[in-house]
Amino acid sequence: MITVRSIDSVEDLVRVDQVIAARFPPRRSAPSHGLDELKARFAEDRSLMLVAESDGEIVGGALAFRVGVAVKVDVVALKPDVRRLGIGRRFMETIEIEAIRLGTRALYLGGANAENRAFYWRLGFARRRSLMQKALPSGLSASGRLRLRAR
Ligand SMILES: CC(C)(COP(=O)(O)OP(=O)(O)OC[C@H]1O[C@@H](n2cnc3c(N)ncnc32)[C@H](O)[C@@H]1OP(=O)(O)O)[C@@H](O)C(=O)NCCC(=O)NCCS
Repeated sequence: MITVRSIDSVEDLVRVDQVIAARFPPRRSAPSHGLDELKARFAEDRSLMLVAESDGEIVGGALAFRVGVAVKVDVVALKPDVRRLGIGRRFMETIEIEAIRLGTRALYLGGANAENRAFYWRLGFARRRSLMQKALPSGLSASGRLRLRAR
């Protein structure tokens, strides 16, 4: 079984970053921030940094953090053998719920490449200028369910 949870220590963050970096050889190209900056942001935004594990082995991660009134998804990556099982969606939905709880207004990421753009479209992102973005509803109800504002 694959579990998704928040990263709970800087050591954990370093291990997850290594697994993610290996998905983007020879150098991680998708994320724009280095490990030092992620470590600094971890103190405030650890609830937006997630790891997926299978039998205790790290199989992927998703690293996001607040930038002003929005949340930037820096990178989401899984080992090839656990893709297309819904884990990427679980990562993004968990980040989205947490972003709403934190009172932020949108999710965004830098330009997605042609291979993964469809993944973000399936999750409701739209392309605006060079960014993929998704506006967020204004908050959670007392029961924790999404409260969608009429548009
Ligand atoms: C992108 C990535 C995180 C997606 O994770 P995943 O667990 O495979 O995605 P899911 O199984 O949760 O898929 C969610 C939805 O997106 C769709 N989807 C996922 N990858 C897709 C792709 N490459 N092309 C088209 N649709 C895709 C799925 O069919 C699914 O749709 P549905 O739920 O409506 O049926 C994963 O493919 C990956 O790690 N890729 C390599 C790293 C990378 O490129 N990361 C993104 C840049 S930071």
